[in-house]
Amino acid sequence: MKIFTTRQQIRQYLSSLANQTIGFVPTMGALHNGHLSLIDRAKNNNDLVVCSIFVNPTQFTNASDLENYPRPIEADIAKLTAAGCDVLFNPPVSEIYDDNEQWHLNIGQLEFLLEGEFRPGHYQGVTQVVFKLLDIVKPTSLYMGQKDYQQFLVVSKMVELLNIPVKMVMCPIEREPGGLAMSSRNVHLSANEKQHALVLSQTLTWAKENFGTLPIYDLEQEAMARLQNQPGVEPEYFELADGKTLLSADENSSTIVALTAAKVGKTRLIDNMLLR
Ligand code: PAF
Repeated sequence: MKIFTTRQQIRQYLSSLANQTIGFVPTMGALHNGHLSLIDRAKNNNDLVVCSIFVNPTQFTNASDLENYPRPIEADIAKLTAAGCDVLFNPPVSEIYDDNEQWHLNIGQLEFLLEGEFRPGHYQGVTQVVFKLLDIVKPTSLYMGQKDYQQFLVVSKMVELLNIPVKMVMCPIEREPGGLAMSSRNVHLSANEKQHALVLSQTLTWAKENFGTLPIYDLEQEAMARLQNQPGVEPEYFELADGKTLLSADENSSTIVALTAAKVGKTRLIDNMLLR
């Protein structure tokens, strides 16, 4: 695997490979099987797979979260090499951002719903860094996980608004044996907290099983109550949303997704499940 830390080096290398399809998997590192499934999918459908590891400061809304974000770079390199990734881009912050750089992209309501309400400014940071990474890598296809469902919609909106020539590919959530969605943040959970966190996927599964038998509002209320009743879990939201707009779902929504976020101990987790 080739490793580049500067824009210039990676650009030079990628532009020397004419006519190759590039599958791009942007990450913040601390790689788990969810990330590796994206690499695998990108590998199956492209000539070359590029992964980036960059803990993006502009998308963090809390300084200690940024500071404590896991950064096991040697282990990540070993995992990417074993997975057959061709190129890793692992730049320092100064390679991506100038001092006091400002960014604002109007992506409409999507920015402020659900995650956007609890993490104001988060999606501006995400669009900013993904825009820069796409501009550097110029991939054929961009692979992102369903686990960050809203992020996928936000980036898709940016790609549409700015006419970026890339195909968006959403890959399914990878789960641990008990059902916990894989996340880099799971390393912060104690064994007990991991047990408590299972209530997220269990409640989503319960909502999926009862979808169509209970009205949407009742499903949301009962799901919130189930989360609230689990010791050690502080739910932020549980909503059934239209899969395209993330506005509240109604009978006319062709895709419906249940999304939830909760704090388990000090760790904030998100999860979702497609119901229709
Ligand atoms: O999902 C992530 O890991 C990040 O939000 C991303 C897309 C790599 C941007 O920093």
